[in-house]
Amino acid sequence: MKLVFATNNLHKLREVREILGSNFEILSTEDINCREEIPETCPTIEGNASQKSHYLKNNYGYDCFADDTGLEIEALNGEPGVYSARYAGKNVSFEDNLLKVMSKMQGQTNRKARFKTVISLILNGKEYFFEGIVNGTIAENRNGQSGFGYDPVFIPEGYTVSYAQMSSELKNAISHRGIAVGKLVDFLKNIK
Ligand code: IMP
Repeated sequence: MKLVFATNNLHKLREVREILGSNFEILSTEDINCREEIPETCPTIEGNASQKSHYLKNNYGYDCFADDTGLEIEALNGEPGVYSARYAGKNVSFEDNLLKVMSKMQGQTNRKARFKTVISLILNGKEYFFEGIVNGTIAENRNGQSGFGYDPVFIPEGYTVSYAQMSSELKNAISHRGIAVGKLVDFLKNIK
């Protein structure tokens, strides 16, 4: 089955292709010559996922899915949340956003946080949502080189290492996106 994944993020594309396996051909936005930035201007993670999948369907006609993810930190009232990609401003790097979180968390005793991913799938004219949530804590110091984004400071519940210290196989198996994609895969397998 061919589906377009509304992303240009090569890390996410690789993660999702690994999880979905060879039964599915996942095209990126570049593969369908969509080179513009897909708008994500909604105030919620669900809204942004839905906005991105609808944009692709309406402008390019493909059945597709889009994900949106936020890191919600309790002591920061849920920040960066829906602003995770642009927490330190417009056109900033993963590193800039990570440093802002680390600096805002300096001295905070409540380190609780969660990652939340929502996937919106548009298939045969209908929209379906899949959610993945992982609770954890924000480490005082960064650790690890793998992954991307806030991975070096996020320690998932039940582990003593950050996402960035895990192999991609382990992260995929337990992560917020892994859980949401797992639900997407179960759904797709059942309608085949
Ligand atoms: P997106 O909307 O799914 O692209 O995610 C928004 C932002 O959340 C990204 O720019 C990253 O900074 C962060 N993010 C998303 N997924 C992950 C992850 O698996 N690990 C660490 N950071 C992530």
